[in-house]
Amino acid sequence: MSVAICPGSFDPVTYGHIDIIKRASKIFDKVIVAVLVNVAKNPWFTIEERKNLLNKSVGDIPNIEIAGFDGLLVDFAARYKADVIVKGLRAVSDFEYEFQMALTNSKLNSEIETVFLTTSAENMYLSSSIVKQVGLLGGDISPFVPECVQDEILLRIRQRRN
Ligand code: PNS
Repeated sequence: MSVAICPGSFDPVTYGHIDIIKRASKIFDKVIVAVLVNVAKNPWFTIEERKNLLNKSVGDIPNIEIAGFDGLLVDFAARYKADVIVKGLRAVSDFEYEFQMALTNSKLNSEIETVFLTTSAENMYLSSSIVKQVGLLGGDISPFVPECVQDEILLRIRQRRN
């Protein structure tokens, strides 16, 4: 049985992430969506909140599981006996960072392969940070995230303003 991990910050999940998760779920027998810590980012949502939003957005896909972890991705992968890490590549600008992470993970555990899926054209520009920025500046974020995520972003923005 092939087990893949879709790792990310998912702060919060966008239609770009959902596209990659859905496509990975058609390729691999089981996909674990792993909400992990990116030390370079200041998250708006806790790991638990991000897991809940993922659950509402993709929880109906039968062969996926959503989990959170605050350690190394390779340790998480070993715990779940995963063979593959799946990442989405949006543009050339993603490549260097993703390449660096893939090589680091492979050095830490050479048993785990990283596979890249090219993002769908309509999601090329999408990122959680951009969506939060558009929301903060009063723009319409409905084209970028499911309604449940939109509600949570707007709530967070109201809380940040108070
Ligand atoms: O969505 P992101 O922020 O690009 O995802 C990056 C993430 C969370 C997958 C990466 O930071 C990560 O793997 N974090 C877990 C800690 C770890 O293993 N770091 C070393 C990887 S190079």
